[in-house]
Amino acid sequence: MKILSIESSCDETAAAVVENGRKVLSSVVASQVEEHKLYGGVVPEIASRRHAEAISGVVSQTLENADTSLDDIDAIAVTYAPGLIGALLVGVNFAKGLALAKNIPLIPTHHLRSHIASNYIAHPDLKPPFLCLVVSGGHSHIILVEDYTKMKIIGRTRDDAAGEAFDKAARTMGMPYPGGIALDKIAENGNPDAFVLPFPKVSGSPYDFSFSGLKTAVINLIHNASQKGDKLPVEDLSASFRKAVVNCLTTNLMKAADDTQSNTIVIAGGVSANSLLRNSLQKLCDEKNIRLYMPPKELCGDNAAMVGSQGYYEFLAGNTAGQNLNAYATKSIEEG
Ligand code: KG4
Ligand code: ZN
Repeated sequence: MKILSIESSCDETAAAVVENGRKVLSSVVASQVEEHKLYGGVVPEIASRRHAEAISGVVSQTLENADTSLDDIDAIAVTYAPGLIGALLVGVNFAKGLALAKNIPLIPTHHLRSHIASNYIAHPDLKPPFLCLVVSGGHSHIILVEDYTKMKIIGRTRDDAAGEAFDKAARTMGMPYPGGIALDKIAENGNPDAFVLPFPKVSGSPYDFSFSGLKTAVINLIHNASQKGDKLPVEDLSASFRKAVVNCLTTNLMKAADDTQSNTIVIAGGVSANSLLRNSLQKLCDEKNIRLYMPPKELCGDNAAMVGSQGYYEFLAGNTAGQNLNAYATKSIEEG
């Protein structure tokens, strides 16, 4: 089965053709990041307009790269939640038009479920059940993935998402948007023990995260130093902050793995590209004989190949929609 998939939830307009959920025939990503950089973050109004301009060309290019035409496509999968509402609506309406014109099924696909599915593309042997850490710009969840379309959240952030904390700390240090990537690179040259940062715990919820205190601690360090006319070493501060965030993520995840007796861990989302997170988890999982699956770096960020993969499993589960499909800024991954 060939699925044409579309993604427009944030600042990437993307399309892909994916066969039977696992084989990517083509994948095109048009990023708006350079434009949003000027404003230090994603401007929703600009994002919607750029999606509207780009989507037709991105889809045509995707079909051409796959050496196929709409006549050979069996279904359309589209990200319908969560994300920026105006941005999502561009993809959803375009997908509806294609499904209507070709009289083929329309498959609404949850963005975070798709992030998890990026691992199905990279790892042909991976199948649920497994324990999953989804860490993106908007979400930080520990999830029991019981089946391709059945998930249970057991841990979540109480305030900022991990990516958001990285971006805000990086911005205070003067790095360009999206700061998480820049901070990760700069941290490689710093001393992770130079600054002692708190380990925020959420009482009574051992798998939940809280990152806003960590972010504020870094911002205060910078402001206090600048009031005295000092400038803190950005490399050391980045390395210490990265270590603190990764420590929270890995500690809660490994506790969840212990408690649920999981022997397979999967990570997904933009922050799963973080080098320290990948290296630390690999070591921890090796020690405990746990299989660890990570998406290759090019599939960590937003793309439509992952939508085509998850869309296939949603289709098998009977999750299709009619022409009254709407987009939603928020929706739990459990609802799908
Ligand atoms: O999943 P994603 O591409 O978009 C959302 O669905 O939110 O995640 C984007 C987030 C941004 O906050 C970005 O700074 C962060 O992922 N990110 C990273 C790294 N690469 C991307 N954070 C830390 N280290 C990285 N290497
Ligand atoms: Zn994403």
